[in-house]
Amino acid sequence: MTFRVQEFSTEYLDVGGSPDVQIIGIWGMGGIGKTTLARAVCSNYQQSFSCQCYLEDVRSKKKKMVSLQEQLLRDILKQPDIKVSSVAEGTKEIKKRLGSMKVLVVVDDIDDADQLDELAIEHESFGPGSRIIITTRDEHVLNIQKVDKKYKAQAMTEKEGLKLLSWYAFGNDYPNKEYNELARDMVDYCGGLPLALKVVGRLLATKKSKTIWESTLDKLRNIPDGKIHEMLKLSYDGLLDDHVKGVFLDISCFFIGLGIGFVTSILDSCSRFSVEAEITTLCDRCLLYIGEKRELRMHDLIRDMGREIVRAESPVELEKRSRLWHSEDAKSVLRNESVSTFAIKRCYVKYM
Ligand SMILES: Nc1ncnc2c1ncn2[C@@H]1O[C@H](COP(=O)(O)OP(=O)(O)OP(=O)(O)O)[C@@H](O)[C@H]1O
Ligand SMILES: [Mg+2]
Repeated sequence: MTFRVQEFSTEYLDVGGSPDVQIIGIWGMGGIGKTTLARAVCSNYQQSFSCQCYLEDVRSKKKKMVSLQEQLLRDILKQPDIKVSSVAEGTKEIKKRLGSMKVLVVVDDIDDADQLDELAIEHESFGPGSRIIITTRDEHVLNIQKVDKKYKAQAMTEKEGLKLLSWYAFGNDYPNKEYNELARDMVDYCGGLPLALKVVGRLLATKKSKTIWESTLDKLRNIPDGKIHEMLKLSYDGLLDDHVKGVFLDISCFFIGLGIGFVTSILDSCSRFSVEAEITTLCDRCLLYIGEKRELRMHDLIRDMGREIVRAESPVELEKRSRLWHSEDAKSVLRNESVSTFAIKRCYVKYM
């Protein structure tokens, strides 16, 4: 990582170099490490800018543009009570108030160039020497005039991948001797994708047998290139019992971002077992992690893998799925009088 941060910083970020405002895009497939790189750059260059702002998960917060605008204004101006009444007002305020400050702003995970317009991401909005980093899975989003440079996030080299896999599988920087070759093949079949290497490494950490490594490798070999969901699903398939699988699906469908205490109390009341041990197992497997505010967090590709498992239970008939996480889906099934048998265990319904 240190090498990548340095490469990105000298060749693209040009900290302390040009006094112009520079807008730099990082693009690459999901799980390749764009967010990790952007966060590392922020923590390395904190001192070089008067203020920083990290706007995370912009794609999934499309409907919360006003709160992203408020965060940008609050973090840069260091005024925690700034309020914005509409997207148009937010855009205007950003253009008007940040123009003299040397800032480092990250706009993480966009999927539409309009999000940049709404956030007033343009050279004139920020002070001399400012750097704006944008990350996206879709290179086309960066094909706009205001993006000065584009950096393609690279898959891990064999050496880096081997180190990461070994760390999660063996707790070491290198594989146990007898697993050397298997581990190299594993890195190759995971396509150097750090997210897959982490999850597969953790899956195999518990399997102290070469036969299991070989059979996992066989499964990986049959997954077409780039099908990261299927790689990640190996970890779900390897969960020991249906209860922990159910807890994983519940969290991926309903509970991401909510406090661990709150979620535990809901899930405990729905089951004969306590879910605490299951949550620990999911964290050990790198399928889940706990955020700074003790909230449940999951990488969005892992969340999508969970939701895809539920969707595949019945691609067309919603009532035959075990979980419905869109309120509109749940309402349409509940209103449909012709439906008499339901497989639904849990659904989310929003009352207005
Ligand atoms: N250089 C690295 N060393 C160790 N772990 C890494 C590295 N890069 C990424 N990871 C891990 O891989 C996972 C995926 O990385 P990250 O979230 O940065 O991907 P991304 O490209 O932002 O994906 P998405 O497009 O879904 O947002 C994370 O769990 C992260 O911890
Ligand atoms: Mg990301």
